[in-house]
Amino acid sequence: MISLLKLGGSIVTFKDKPLAFNSIAVANISKALSEFIEDEHEPLIVVHGGGSFGHYYSVKYDIHSRADRYSSEGISYVRCSMVELNHLIVSTMLKSGLKPFTVHPSSLFLKGKDINVDAMNRLKDIAEHGLIPVIHGDIMHYSKDLFYILSGDELMSIVARYVNPKVAVFALSVDGVYKDIKSKELVKELKYSGDAFINDVGMDVTGGMKRKIREAFNIASMGIDVWFVNGLYTDRIVNVLKGYETVGTIVRGR
Ligand code: IPE
Repeated sequence: MISLLKLGGSIVTFKDKPLAFNSIAVANISKALSEFIEDEHEPLIVVHGGGSFGHYYSVKYDIHSRADRYSSEGISYVRCSMVELNHLIVSTMLKSGLKPFTVHPSSLFLKGKDINVDAMNRLKDIAEHGLIPVIHGDIMHYSKDLFYILSGDELMSIVARYVNPKVAVFALSVDGVYKDIKSKELVKELKYSGDAFINDVGMDVTGGMKRKIREAFNIASMGIDVWFVNGLYTDRIVNVLKGYETVGTIVRGR
């Protein structure tokens, strides 16, 4: 069965440094995924965030997830930076023997936020034929002169509805969801969204951890288990893809 994995911006980039790609983290994850696929022959869809690429320009030009009129220069910079980050990620995956296949999110939507159901359904076909669809958060055209930021987290929920994965995994640069940010006490199982320390820091226009948790509950309501794991420990990603428990936070499918 198919799995859905989001590589957060905090893992694919250095979030506090503009336009800094974390090539080592992406190479390590790619290597682990390539071993997983060799062992298990299971299909996978990857979504990645914007980190210090897309978020950097979104913040700089004050562009948000609400459809609105924004600076055309800013829109262009956000789109270009996401295409660049995507290219860096898929090139790294390719070097590790994976077969990434970028699907730009604009191809998954029609006007406004209407979903291109045919394109969504084809994601599964692509994944089941040995390729890894790689989708990313992006700036999207809404209508006329209106644009909006679509986060990779929101894409996780939308894609999950169409591909019905066995598990949805959010790979972050922290161990999971913390009960308390000071003590770093990990919430092993998150049952209510109010049960965690939810605070957003820094370069993030799409709502950071709060949004991730909201999307996780959304996905869990489809009957799919959701994991938050530290992507710097690639064995944790592989463990949950294989259906084992690991260090991290689970939101069980209901
Ligand atoms: C960000 O996607 C998209 C843009 C800013 C263009 P996400 O909101 O999913 O990115 P991360 O994972 O939090 O960095």
